[in-house]
Amino acid sequence: MVNLKGRSFLKLLDYTPEEILYFIDLAAELKEKKKKGILTTDMHAGKNVALIFEKTSTRTRCSFEVACHDLGIGTTYLDPKASQIGTKESIIDTANVLGRMFEGIEYRGFEQTKVEDLAKYSGVPVWNGLTNEFHPTQMLADVLTIREKLGRIKGVKLTYMGDARYNMGNSLMVVCSKLGMHFTACTNREYFPEQSLVDECRKIAEGTGATITLTESVEEGTTDADVIYTDVWVSMGEPSEVWKERIDKLLPYQVNAKAMANAKKDAIFMHCLPAYHDLNTQVGRDVFDEFGLKELEVTDEVFNSPQSVVFDEAENRMHTIKAVVAATI
Ligand code: CP
Ligand code: NVA
Repeated sequence: MVNLKGRSFLKLLDYTPEEILYFIDLAAELKEKKKKGILTTDMHAGKNVALIFEKTSTRTRCSFEVACHDLGIGTTYLDPKASQIGTKESIIDTANVLGRMFEGIEYRGFEQTKVEDLAKYSGVPVWNGLTNEFHPTQMLADVLTIREKLGRIKGVKLTYMGDARYNMGNSLMVVCSKLGMHFTACTNREYFPEQSLVDECRKIAEGTGATITLTESVEEGTTDADVIYTDVWVSMGEPSEVWKERIDKLLPYQVNAKAMANAKKDAIFMHCLPAYHDLNTQVGRDVFDEFGLKELEVTDEVFNSPQSVVFDEAENRMHTIKAVVAATI
């Protein structure tokens, strides 16, 4: 019997495959209830959680707020400017204070050490809503989406194209190794995940049947892929000066019709979002003015193709975050 009460959700390395699948199953169950209009507000009625966002968010914030509302939980949103965190008060002191008032804390920010400290000193479950290193709630949504679309998880070949050293590349490599999936980082070698994490994942993979491949060849990396996944080339908190270097090194790894055509015929396209696929964003227009590119990590054609499951994936953020909160609080 899986019992996750009181556990923090900081990174998937801390969870067994069985526990990860428990979250996925619970999310599917809660999703079905929501679709049928079955209320779940008595599950955790009367509890309160704090939602700390040191970086901006659409999906993660809305998912936590809606999920908590559906579970009967009250939420308090703290943005970096509206609280003392980091500027006038340390993470440790903040953890001690919030732990006295809330039954759980979500944290989105920079270093993974901060979310780990919050968990250590608050005495309540802490959920990682994205750090530089990991984005674990996104992984649950992605796995649920893969299972819904492909009907299986184990043995699925997922190819990640882009900056694989950051939160998304790292987290996808971890979840694939845990769940017996075949992970390929298809990118410039400078953007391969850190070797120590690759080694750790390969060790996990030995016991699950997963494989980890790092390749600079688009041809090799996309062949027979079930899932082609990408993310923004410049992440939140990075300086805009890095755009030039990223474009130079990552343009060959843009997800376009040719890359998709080399994958399996029924392959799906995934992206955690937000995405730069047209000129309807300020950043997209700024990059266009400077570099003349209308689309970046993914072409508009692929983004809007029938193979693209990005909005199902976004919806699943809410159902899976609800499962994490419901199971751990
Ligand atoms: N995918 C994701 O985390 O989206 P937000 O940044 O909008 O929360
Ligand atoms: N790598 C991206 C993910 C956004 C969900 C970032 O950190 O900005």
